[in-house]
Amino acid sequence: MKAIVVTDEAAGTAGMTLVDRPAPEPAINDVVVQVHASGFVPTELTWPSTWTDRLGRDRTPSVPGHELAGVVSALGYGTTGLSVGQRVFGLTDWSRDGTLAEYVAVEARNLAPLPGDVDFTVGASLPISGLTAWQGLFEHGRLRAGQSVLVHGAAGAVGSMVTQLAHEFGAYVIGTGRAADRQRALDFGAQEFVDLENDVLEDVGGIDLVFDVIGGDIGKRSAGLIRAGGSLVSVVGPPDVRPADALTIDFVVTSDRAQLGEIVQRVRDGRLLTNIAKVADLDDAVAALNPTERATGKTIIRVRS
Ligand SMILES: NC(=O)c1ccc[n+]([C@@H]2O[C@H](COP(=O)([O-])OP(=O)(O)OC[C@H]3O[C@@H](n4cnc5c(N)ncnc54)[C@H](OP(=O)(O)O)[C@@H]3O)[C@@H](O)[C@H]2O)c1
Repeated sequence: MKAIVVTDEAAGTAGMTLVDRPAPEPAINDVVVQVHASGFVPTELTWPSTWTDRLGRDRTPSVPGHELAGVVSALGYGTTGLSVGQRVFGLTDWSRDGTLAEYVAVEARNLAPLPGDVDFTVGASLPISGLTAWQGLFEHGRLRAGQSVLVHGAAGAVGSMVTQLAHEFGAYVIGTGRAADRQRALDFGAQEFVDLENDVLEDVGGIDLVFDVIGGDIGKRSAGLIRAGGSLVSVVGPPDVRPADALTIDFVVTSDRAQLGEIVQRVRDGRLLTNIAKVADLDDAVAALNPTERATGKTIIRVRS
């Protein structure tokens, strides 16, 4: 099969190469999926799981990309709940070969049915950003209607999902980002926007929930904006500063079939807009994943037309 592989962490996305390699076999409770579309998060090349397995052993050359939409082509020993020929989408294990390939082996529990009226490229754009937003707001942040949410990077992949879900849930949403992203963040449902390049972040205060996808100095300064009893939810590692009298959580997204179903239903009925900047074919994926110009939103690789 054709696959994109990486061998050298220092090379980043520039070190990606398109190769031929054997298709994977399904393990116990796996399915093999014929990948139709794949999603990739650029920072995954800095994660240890891209380079080593769960025992810390080198697993290069590894296939990156952990979001997929496709069609089940084989079942592993004992696998239940999905069928050969079924359309699916979801999130694959960080420590196994991923989805920038024509086939991927993945535990069936990490996938959900993809409705027939949802394009594979749309399906592949949803799992990481949609599940991260859902889990950060509702499981970890315990958002309640009427609360205020400060969403960093509100025009980005995760931030745009957080903005839309929080808005739908009845929160007051303040988005942040670069000056150029103001209108996109407002279009996704933010009621206000803080331009982190020109505005003073500290002018907003008394926030119930900060959703941080940036970290660093922005993360530190955000801790002071949270009211007593509020929450700081980080997806970029443990915060350097923990707000007093507030819940502080950092987490890594996990797959969840029911939540994937909630997310895709919202896309179908128009409550959730996707955030796809570009779609490229697998043969052009290395160039597409090494962009020369800034683009906001996800780059999705169409593996099979
Ligand atoms: N823990 C988890 O489970 C989990 C899950 C998903 C994602 N993540 C992490 O979350 C982060 C965001 O992911 P993503 O896919 O949403 O990325 P993304 O699409 O690039 O979105 C991030 C947004 O924040 C903006 N931004 C970043 N730094 C900024 C700054 N200093 N000032 C103003 N705006 C800034 C970016 O603008 P520019 O593009 O111009 O920088 C972009 O619009 C990544 O580090 C990713 O690894 C973690």
